[in-house]
Amino acid sequence: EIPEEKTPEFPIPAGCHAERVVSVKHYTDRLFSFRITRPQSFRFRSGEFVMIGLPNAAKPVFRAYSIASPAWDDEIEFYSIKVPDGPLTQHLQKIQPGDTVLLRQKSTGTLVNDALTPAKNLYMISTGTGIAPFASLIREPETYDKFERIILTHTCRDVAELEYGNELVAALKDDPLIGELVEGRLVHFTSTTRETSPVMGRITALIENGELFKALGTEPFNRENDRVMICGSMEMLKDVKALVEKAGLKEGSNAEPADFVVERAFVG
Ligand code: A2P
Repeated sequence: EIPEEKTPEFPIPAGCHAERVVSVKHYTDRLFSFRITRPQSFRFRSGEFVMIGLPNAAKPVFRAYSIASPAWDDEIEFYSIKVPDGPLTQHLQKIQPGDTVLLRQKSTGTLVNDALTPAKNLYMISTGTGIAPFASLIREPETYDKFERIILTHTCRDVAELEYGNELVAALKDDPLIGELVEGRLVHFTSTTRETSPVMGRITALIENGELFKALGTEPFNRENDRVMICGSMEMLKDVKALVEKAGLKEGSNAEPADFVVERAFVG
């Protein structure tokens, strides 16, 4: 049930949708997710991002957010970091059901199925909130049409930060639309870097020392079988990109689909 709408303090800027917060879930003191209503006219491709803001100023601050829900969902989900002095997130982290979130009309992005050519395996490599676009794509039936095996890797500082991804993957199994597709075809590989867990280390280290491929029972990246999507911090993108390029994979785009695509996880 959608909570009753509270009247925002400031007028809604032109070219924005004003949507209602449906639910909010806090994972740690650094991470939370929330769901908002979806305007009928708002179309996007799974994996894209959109600009969002709050109606708390005459000129609101907008930030790019990956849409974490799939294109078929009738709500829109986001997964966010909380930055104590972040221009948007210091306020956004306090939202409650019924509050208004501003949504710009156009979505865009490179982490889309259209930017890759089909192959056997699709690796989705994420750190921190970089899992958000993959939360969308692993719930997108087209992903399973295009790739046989989907490997979602998520590396965080500690175990609590893996919770969003763990819940997401667990819920997929019971999903009436996607549950059957996922069966035996989605692998969720997690590691931590600052707290003990079954697999430890940065994903870059686990790619380089072969631990990732060993755990999956497969060969290192190769152009014939593997496609890769990368989402995390600026440094993480640079380092993972160097590794996939070293393996001979070529960067793709919407205009020219190829072997891998990159997008930074936005913060602020
Ligand atoms: P580390 O703990 O060694 O910094 P954050 O929460 O800061 O965005 O980090 C999320 C995860 O990404 C952490 O596990 C962090 O490891 C890891 N990480 C940070 N920088 C890189 C990088 N250049 N390459 C791969 N992983 C990285």
